[in-house]
Amino acid sequence: MTATAGAQLSHVYPRGSRVNERGHLELGGCDAVELAGRFGTPLYVVVEDDLRSRAREVADALHARHANGGVLFASKAFPCTAVLRALAEEGLGCDVASGGELALALAAGMDPAGICMHGNAKSERELREALDARVGHIVLDSLHELRLLAGLAEQLGHAQEVLLRVTPDVAGDTHAKISTGQADSKFGFSLPEAPAAIEAVRSTPSLSLAGLHVHIGSQLLELAPFAAAVRAVASLGRFDVYNFGGGLGVAYTADQRPPSFQSWVQTITGAVHQQLGEGVRLLIEPGRALVANSTVTLYTVQTVKRNVSTWVAVDGGMSDNLRPMMYGARYEAALADRPLATGGERCHVAGKHCESGDVLVRDALLDDPAPGDVLVTPTTGAYGYAMANNYNGVPRPPVVFVRDGQARAVVRRETYADLMARDV
Ligand SMILES: Cc1ncc(COP(=O)(O)O)c(C=O)c1O
Repeated sequence: MTATAGAQLSHVYPRGSRVNERGHLELGGCDAVELAGRFGTPLYVVVEDDLRSRAREVADALHARHANGGVLFASKAFPCTAVLRALAEEGLGCDVASGGELALALAAGMDPAGICMHGNAKSERELREALDARVGHIVLDSLHELRLLAGLAEQLGHAQEVLLRVTPDVAGDTHAKISTGQADSKFGFSLPEAPAAIEAVRSTPSLSLAGLHVHIGSQLLELAPFAAAVRAVASLGRFDVYNFGGGLGVAYTADQRPPSFQSWVQTITGAVHQQLGEGVRLLIEPGRALVANSTVTLYTVQTVKRNVSTWVAVDGGMSDNLRPMMYGARYEAALADRPLATGGERCHVAGKHCESGDVLVRDALLDDPAPGDVLVTPTTGAYGYAMANNYNGVPRPPVVFVRDGQARAVVRRETYADLMARDV
């Protein structure tokens, strides 16, 4: 089987990817097979220009339509200092959902005023850390947290700006595990509960209610729920600040065509202008859509087994990409030295872990896969590194940035010593 003349890599690959003269996948000007040889596998490869260009694109889209807007990267999607640093350099702020993510954001040079702290179960320590850092907004998720934060802010003599998280009872068409806007949710206040919570914050001197926060879910490929969420919270009155969260979906497979940043932003700003006017401060928090397609994971094929199916087993799996196990997420796979080969054998790409469900890609068409081949799964920038773990004592992979033919490691591979580093 050979490459089809004129065939092209699909849009699931990072921007600027191509097949080079040797027929190999090229990422940020670097040959993927050489990257695997130099840094080892599994390996997360981030195409820096892709990351930065998406950041500029979403910020430009927002600023073109709304004078007082801000883009905050949802750092949970790729909580890596180098990623946060690159996005800070592009002028983005970020949201953090824990003290650890806050520490990463500060280490990356994020301006504290551009940081928004979330979490449905923030600890006292995390709230204190957010206050000490002088983050721009803390998003209140419960009445208990309101009282806790009020006490801490009073001790510090610092009138903290807060947003109130509201679940607008709008459900996007996505996996139940990443749907967050429904009334029966562990997050925030439902619409009927919100007025009393708003009143409670307003009567708390150490807190200043700037506005509302809404995040309806993740990997949404339809835009209507975003406008519905704006309409739903408009019923709660008018505030200075609205943060409409993230959630824009991405293409994991070539058949998926997600809305562009421009249409997403147009939907939100259109609804905001209609319902709330043009003067409000409007924040959005894309995570997945900023980083997912910027990154691929490279693996080395370890074995190929043929029984009822053909099983291509690689040297990673659910320890570097938990999403297929968690939500049945679909990915594509290709062989890095012949990525455009067509036809091929229907294979399941399995991980190395002791779970039958550790299957990264089902029904991939691979051209005569063999041990030693470098296998690539595109679209692994979001919630891959973020959810990586040490199951089966597997050290977590490094992260490499590629740009203009140069590759630099920004996170090293874990070692066996790291696995024991916390032993006492
Ligand atoms: C509050 C909040 N904002 C933003 C995001 C980012 O969502 P996404 O990665 O789908 O853009 C999430 C994801 O869970 C979230 O919980």
